[in-house]
Amino acid sequence: MADISTIYMGIRLTSPIIVGASTFSRKIDNIKRAEDSGAGALVIYSLFQEQIEIERNELEDELRANEEAFPEALTYFPQMEHAGPREHIMWVEKTRKEVKFPLIASLNAISLGDWIEYAKQLENAGCDALELNLYAVETDPTVSSEDIEERQLDVVEAIVATAAIPVAVKLSPFYTSLPNFVDSVIAAGAAGVVLFNRFYQPFIDPLKEELDIRLDLSRSEDTRLPLRWIAILSEWATADFAASTGVHTAFDVARHLLAGAKAVQCVSTLYNHGLDYIGEMNLELSRWMDGKGYKNTENFRGKMSQKNLRDPYAFERAQYVKALLEYKQG
Ligand SMILES: Cc1cc2nc3c(=O)[nH]c(=O)nc-3n(C[C@H](O)[C@H](O)[C@H](O)COP(=O)(O)O)c2cc1C
Repeated sequence: MADISTIYMGIRLTSPIIVGASTFSRKIDNIKRAEDSGAGALVIYSLFQEQIEIERNELEDELRANEEAFPEALTYFPQMEHAGPREHIMWVEKTRKEVKFPLIASLNAISLGDWIEYAKQLENAGCDALELNLYAVETDPTVSSEDIEERQLDVVEAIVATAAIPVAVKLSPFYTSLPNFVDSVIAAGAAGVVLFNRFYQPFIDPLKEELDIRLDLSRSEDTRLPLRWIAILSEWATADFAASTGVHTAFDVARHLLAGAKAVQCVSTLYNHGLDYIGEMNLELSRWMDGKGYKNTENFRGKMSQKNLRDPYAFERAQYVKALLEYKQG
């Protein structure tokens, strides 16, 4: 049977399937089940910069005192009162004792601050790597894309300087020049790049005229976006890529490895099918590899990256033009 193991940021994973950051990691039973069903690693749900800063600056008290002025800020992070950074570190320590497979801690951040030292604490809690999720919704028209990128790169550099374990950066697809920013993130010391985080998009319920804050799960088609970029970027980028968003089946895993990814992260598909589904995907992946005559993942990784395709524009605009022109008429 084919060997489905992979090396991601220098860490050997028995499977390329990583359980992405999600509420699964809020229960030890789930984490054990992920390990038992053959996940290569698991990303623990994020510690948010705001959680750390709220505790550090006693912002909460301040907000209470100013409730009149900032009522929205109090509801913005409603559960943080009960979920401080110390509890988070303790949770990571506890998790580390319960399972043996690689654990990746996640920091969700927007700007520099004292909170950076938590990278070290997460490392000391026993994590094998860190994932830095740069999730920002910039609404200030005076802030340029250059300002945002500089701010984010400062955070990457500071985290890399603080932690001795490898750091992956999880990005959104919303950069004017994604290749340029990925290049800068790698120059700042990232060992891994996770494409992409999935932005929470608020919706409006027109009947109630209220905000609808449900999270929608992804679909398999959504994986085309990270697939394109992994195929393009893995051509030259020196970091390891992990796909996130829309990885729902063993074929999706195969697609991403063919494009050049070292690993994939799954969340939505595991909410749909349960954590045991990882075992099924592993089996299907190895069956597919057997059928193709691949003994290990390196035999075919990147085989369909932009560089390795005969058509040098395969993942670029030319294909879009071709697809539109060739679509059936009526
Ligand atoms: C319920 C839920 C909780 C999540 N929590 C986090 C989180 O704490 N940190 C993070 O970086 N991403 C988080 N995500 C995003 C996922 O890690 C992942 O990037 C996204 O769901 C896309 O992958 P998918 O298509 O496999 O669902 C969460 C997603 C869901 C659905």
